[in-house]
Amino acid sequence: MIEFTGAKPIPVPIREENGFAFSAEETLSLITPNTRLLILNSPANPTGGVTPKSEIEKLVKGLEAHPHVAIMSDEIYDVMTYDGEEHCSLLSFPEIRDRLIVLNGWSKTWAMTGWRMGWSIWPDQLYDKVRKLAVNCWSCVNAPSQFAGIAAIDGPQDDVEKMCRAFDNRRKIVVDGLNSLPGISCTTPKGAFYAFPNVKETGWPAKKLAAALLDDAGVALIGGPDFGILGEGYIRLSYANSEENIIRAIERIEKFLTK
Ligand SMILES: Cc1ncc(COP(=O)(O)O)c(C=O)c1O
Repeated sequence: MIEFTGAKPIPVPIREENGFAFSAEETLSLITPNTRLLILNSPANPTGGVTPKSEIEKLVKGLEAHPHVAIMSDEIYDVMTYDGEEHCSLLSFPEIRDRLIVLNGWSKTWAMTGWRMGWSIWPDQLYDKVRKLAVNCWSCVNAPSQFAGIAAIDGPQDDVEKMCRAFDNRRKIVVDGLNSLPGISCTTPKGAFYAFPNVKETGWPAKKLAAALLDDAGVALIGGPDFGILGEGYIRLSYANSEENIIRAIERIEKFLTK
């Protein structure tokens, strides 16, 4: 998509040893006079990484030196953080509000993936441009979906909390399960509903392993390289599924790896 617009994507390395949080210093070091947009995502897909507030503060401070860079922060997993980790919204920094775009939606918090609805917050200077895009690309959401969206936001939020607690339990099952498998080690994700285990010791290239697990074990995972060129050696497992199915998946992966 970035290349389609004629721009050149520059990946920011997201490191396992850093709990898959992005580093402010590393991100800032990649900015050049040609940089136009910095895309951020925390809590993150595919890693489950959550970037701490201190690091985001450092990033925002550093961005003062780069006023030509707009920031797009995808915060769609904002309510899904664990182990006391807190989501830090880029909206809490007035100093970058004139160049900040924030994305969010119904898919994750209210499990309304199929409804195809999201929202975004734009700065005045970009509003007219995005209005033209929106009118032509994603306007006229059908009325039942819009009413469902209002009900989700206005209604009681206890199911959201219940769901987050369920994800937290599943997360523990997934991490323990993956860490018990030969050749696999999994850092504990602090947010979203993904685990991003390191599979380098299995000897399998990540995409081939994901394909073989689907074909031979009936377990659907995604190879890290499908999320970017730095994803080799990792696979993504979504735990947006029942505990029972997660346990079955781990058992099947084990059988596959030990056969
Ligand atoms: C980081 C991130 N942003 C946005 C989305 C968009 O979700 P949807 O298109 O279902 O609203 C996803 C879905 O997986 C995601 O992981």
